Order: sequence, then C-alpha cells, then structure tokens
Amino acid sequence: MFNPYGGIAAQAFMSGVLSGILDVQGKRVLDLGCGAGVIGFCCILKQSQKVLFSDLHPNIGEIKNHPLMPSQDQVKVQDLCAGEAEETYDTIFMPFPSRSIERPIDPESYEMGILRNDDIVFRAISDVGKVLAPSGEFVFFYRVFNDQFPLYLEVTSHLAKYFDLSTLKLLWYVGEASGHGLLLSVKKSA
Ligand SMILES: C[S@@+](CC[C@H](N)C(=O)[O-])C[C@H]1O[C@@H](n2cnc3c(N)ncnc32)[C@H](O)[C@@H]1O
Repeated sequence: MFNPYGGIAAQAFMSGVLSGILDVQGKRVLDLGCGAGVIGFCCILKQSQKVLFSDLHPNIGEIKNHPLMPSQDQVKVQDLCAGEAEETYDTIFMPFPSRSIERPIDPESYEMGILRNDDIVFRAISDVGKVLAPSGEFVFFYRVFNDQFPLYLEVTSHLAKYFDLSTLKLLWYVGEASGHGLLLSVKKSA
C-alpha cells in the first residue's frame, strides 16, 4: 500500500484539515485513494460524521483495525466511487496521480499508487461530481507541469460540468522544478 509519510500532498491535506482551513466537523467524508488513510484519520480526529476510506489497492483492509477507527466508518476496495450512491458525501478528498504513463502497471508495484494514465483524472471528476451532495466540497491535490498546459484547460472544462468554478480556491502551493503542486478546493454546483 502507498505509504505517504513525508509526501508533500499528504502533508498539505492533513494541515488543511487539522488547522481547520478545511472544516470537516459533522461532514460525511470520502477519502478517495486513501492509501495509508492519513487524511481520513485527520477527519476522524476533527469529528466528521462518517469517513469512507476507499482505494483500488486491496491492502487498505488493515485500516479497519486501526484503534482510531470508529464503528460507523468504512473501508472499501473499489475503483474510484464505483459503489457509492449519488449525492451522499459532503466532502471528498483526492490526491490525483502525479504522472502519467501509458503501459500497463503491475498492481504490486509502487507505480500503482502514483503513476497512472491521465484518464483517471477525468473519470475521477465525473465520479466525484455524482456522489457529492449539492454544494459539497471537492478537495484535490493537482500537479501542473510546465510543458502540459493544454491538459489543464481540458481538466478545467471537465470540472465545470459538475462544479461551480467561481468557488475554486487555492489552499496551498509548492513550486517545483518542472511545474507546481496545488491543493485546490471547489464546490459542487447547488
Ligand atoms: C498518491 S497516493 C495517495 C495516498 C494518500 N491519500 C495520501 O494522500 O498520501 C494515490 C492513491 O490512489 C490509489 N488509486 C489509484 N488509482 C485508483 C483508483 N482507480 N481508484 C481508487 N484509488 C486509486 C492508489 O492505490 C494510492 O493509494
């Protein structure tokens, strides 16, 4: 399983939740692509109503045994939001994959967690758009590479199908040699 300890994306999400910049108290939260579950556990600490830990990788089952895990929270192995009903979450967190490759990925390799096809970004936006309640918040980490700008125009147009782009907020930013890492939030259209 992807263990993000020390990764910049996980730190950005966790700081946002723990500092209260992202208010998750009483919210129904989906930690999408949860890996070791660090974002969801921060939400439990901040008294979310429920947290679903969800990931494609089967090793996330161990999260169920964590002492912080309350009984109403769940762990599911699934592709994106495949098994979730429409409009059932208030907040969804997702770190998009950092890079794209086109060859098949060995599910046992670390690449499963971080190097995926761009297609997942578009599929994720559609899935999240469906399962978020109206005005629910999508919080995502996204890397913008200097040499791939047209892709970001496509991503923004796809977001506009479900989300109110006037609510788009930049929560955190890091400059990198090849581009920028952004922690963004946007609300689903009411
Ligand atoms: C970069 S890791 C992030 C882990 C953790 N949420 C964090 O912030 O540190 C991305 C995670 O997405 C998961 N993932 C990749 N493709 C997925 C899919 N189609 N559906 C659900 N999870 C997926 C990977 O298994 C991996 O755990």
